Amino acid sequence: MKNKEKTEKITETTPDEEASKEMLPLNHLKEAVVAQYGDDARLILDSIDEVEAILLRREARAKGEFDDAKAIIHLSGLSKKYESAGMTPVDALKEVDLSIVQGEMVAVIGPSGSGKSTLLQMMGALDVPTSGGARINFQELSEMNTKELTQFRSQTVGFVFQKFNLIPNLSALENVSIAMESTKMNRQERRSRAAELLKEVGLGKRMSHLPGQLSGGEQQRVSIARALANHPKIIYADEPTGSLDSKTSRTIIQLFDTIRRDFNTTIIIVTHNHTIAKHCDRTVKIKDGRIK
Ligand SMILES: Nc1ncnc2c1ncn2[C@@H]1O[C@H](COP(=O)(O)OP(=O)(O)OP(=O)(O)O)[C@@H](O)[C@H]1O
Ligand SMILES: [Mg+2]
Repeated sequence: MKNKEKTEKITETTPDEEASKEMLPLNHLKEAVVAQYGDDARLILDSIDEVEAILLRREARAKGEFDDAKAIIHLSGLSKKYESAGMTPVDALKEVDLSIVQGEMVAVIGPSGSGKSTLLQMMGALDVPTSGGARINFQELSEMNTKELTQFRSQTVGFVFQKFNLIPNLSALENVSIAMESTKMNRQERRSRAAELLKEVGLGKRMSHLPGQLSGGEQQRVSIARALANHPKIIYADEPTGSLDSKTSRTIIQLFDTIRRDFNTTIIIVTHNHTIAKHCDRTVKIKDGRIK
């Protein structure tokens, strides 16, 4: 009888009350703060959460509590030698081991010619290593068939190329919307998402321009918008702010931050900019094809 009374009491509570009971005291407090101080407070609290997550990840790494099986990017003994007739072979990457977990933001720094772009190309399945393995998004790239690789390149990863790689005879809007051609979105949806992304990178007024009619920094931002189009799980950005002024660079890094927070996206940024590197969870240094 006592038990029955107890059950009845519990079922009498409203769904809201139930939800609040299950909430951790800290979450409760956060909701109360947001209710009182509005969306700005939510932004501040989200940033605090983000910093906390970064610190926890750093701590786990420092303690060696890092399970490679959980790494979304896992390279083992990966080497790349460029060889062609009449050319001295180049060992661009030598026995690289690297693990990155989902949601990490990692800076890759190193001198010119040290292998940074080659590293991104290997991780993005844009080229094949000479030896060693690359397991990305929990699948060995060498075991994927052509169809799976095409899908991987267009859906799983987003690439911001060092040289932008925009299609010269397509407008900024078309360059971004073409990235979504293999999705289920119809033309109108693709164009409207492309327009939204271009606005986010500050190019709302340049959508109909061809790449040749855009400045270097503007082309770079089109290439960033294109990389984000399909909500990739991993973003490889090869010096994404190399042609941008410091204010626009900040906007782009803030955009990456937001994407990471909202979608737990893993972001690898090749950069020479130490402010950006410091902003990342950690820095991977590369020299003469080796990770330091
Ligand atoms: N397709 C290629 N054929 C032959 N050698 C290449 C090729 N691509 C790159 N290399 C060589 O491999 C090495 C690494 O090149 P990579 O482009 O990865 O350097 P990087 O670190 O990105 O340099 P940067 O900072 O100048 O962009 C360099 O010595 C380069 O000359
Ligand atoms: Mg490069």
